[in-house]
Amino acid sequence: MFRFGVFIVIIFFTSKIVATPDSKIDPQLLAGEDEDFNIPRENYQLNSTVPLVKCPAGTFRGSLEYTRGGRRYFSFQSIPYAEPPRRFEPTTLKAPLKDIYDATTQPPVCPQIPDDSPEYVGQEDCLYLSVSKPDESHCREELSNGKLLPVMFWIHPGSYLNNNGSFFRGTYLLDECIVLVTFEYRVGALGFLTTGDNVIPGNLGMKDQLIALRWTRRNIRYFLGDPNLVTIAGTSAGGTSVSHHICSPASSGLFARAISMSGAVLVPWAITEKPLEIAKNLARKLNCLDLSSEGIKSCLLSKSARDIVNTQLSASEFTLRYTPVIEPKNAPNPFQNAIPYHLLKTGQINKVPYLIGFVQDEGIFLAEPFLQRYAGAMDKFHENRETEREDDSNSSVGPDKSPGSTLQESFQFR
Ligand SMILES: *[C@@H]1O[C@H](CO)[C@@H](O)[C@H](O)[C@H]1NC(C)=O
Ligand SMILES: *[C@@H]1O[C@H](CO)[C@@H](O)[C@H](O)[C@H]1NC(C)=O
Ligand SMILES: *[C@@H]1O[C@H](CO)[C@@H](O)[C@H](O)[C@H]1NC(C)=O
Repeated sequence: MFRFGVFIVIIFFTSKIVATPDSKIDPQLLAGEDEDFNIPRENYQLNSTVPLVKCPAGTFRGSLEYTRGGRRYFSFQSIPYAEPPRRFEPTTLKAPLKDIYDATTQPPVCPQIPDDSPEYVGQEDCLYLSVSKPDESHCREELSNGKLLPVMFWIHPGSYLNNNGSFFRGTYLLDECIVLVTFEYRVGALGFLTTGDNVIPGNLGMKDQLIALRWTRRNIRYFLGDPNLVTIAGTSAGGTSVSHHICSPASSGLFARAISMSGAVLVPWAITEKPLEIAKNLARKLNCLDLSSEGIKSCLLSKSARDIVNTQLSASEFTLRYTPVIEPKNAPNPFQNAIPYHLLKTGQINKVPYLIGFVQDEGIFLAEPFLQRYAGAMDKFHENRETEREDDSNSSVGPDKSPGSTLQESFQFR
């Protein structure tokens, strides 16, 4: 799966189609996009020996890293892109930082139970992003005549419940002359629970993604990235997120290309249809008495993030219930309040070059509960997985144990 992903990405980045999104979107929705793209190139320092980048968001000190192929690149981690969010509220772009910011620390993750452990981890102040920027000396040709590099804006997977932006680092992708952005967005009930009205608005996690995209648009040229050549890409919940952005008027003009791997907006779990029921169930499980929208909100605000996350899955029989929703017509600054299927049918979408892919048998993990009923069936299943992995590790292409194969494994056997 991982190798397939890298393969299409490379083809994509080596083709030089410059696309401008066809935007017939209400300019009101883009209010606040005061990008200052026209700062002359000389005004930003390209210094290969010191990983220091000055941009509208602040001045960031990163660290020197090496790719699998031995190329130098600079990694800037844990950059706050949004104001620390208040629970169940949308947030805003981070105000510019004054002092030099140490962007060398591991980013925090949003509150969650990771796939590979039963323990709650994370913090609610989690809206950070990381940028990997090549050493310009490896990309002289690509940067000649004032050109900038294509940007990959990677949206992490995790069923909108867990996982984190460190799924990818520059280790593999920075063998190409691209700039990579990865980031955290709120997941689970803290990112997607909604009362279906404007009390706890929907799509908070998607609105976080939008802010990260705006940050990228505004700042990425100082990291050698072309703000007009941003490819949004993701796997699974990241893939469905990408296609939600394709359909969202609020995302218009923020990206130029898109890649969805193993997830798109028409899969059954890409939209939660009756989110209020889930919110009420969760409130009940946490002993809240007043199940009005306001009651749910004030009760859930009094609980710890840990209690919410530890309880969130018991509010629904199906795991994928904290996902994007269609917001009400009167929602202020909605991410989406129309039905994506209709938008696709009538072409009212952000029209950009778009790659969509999936892999054979990728949904097989859904069959696990059925297979478990038959003695021996699961053993056979795991045996087959082992064989498949041996085949993988014998390949001359790609890493022996790719993040992708690890994900696939945990995804299938959690
Ligand atoms: C890069 O930074 C170092 C250390 O501050 C400085 O000595 C050097 O002159 C700078 N190089 C360029 C090309 O600005
Ligand atoms: C972040 O995700 C990666 C896999 O994508 C995982 O290996 C790592 O443990 C996660 N970090 C935390 C703090 O959960
Ligand atoms: C691994 O590759 C070697 C050499 O190409 C080959 O002989 C061997 O059969 C392969 N093993 C598997 C499990 O595919």
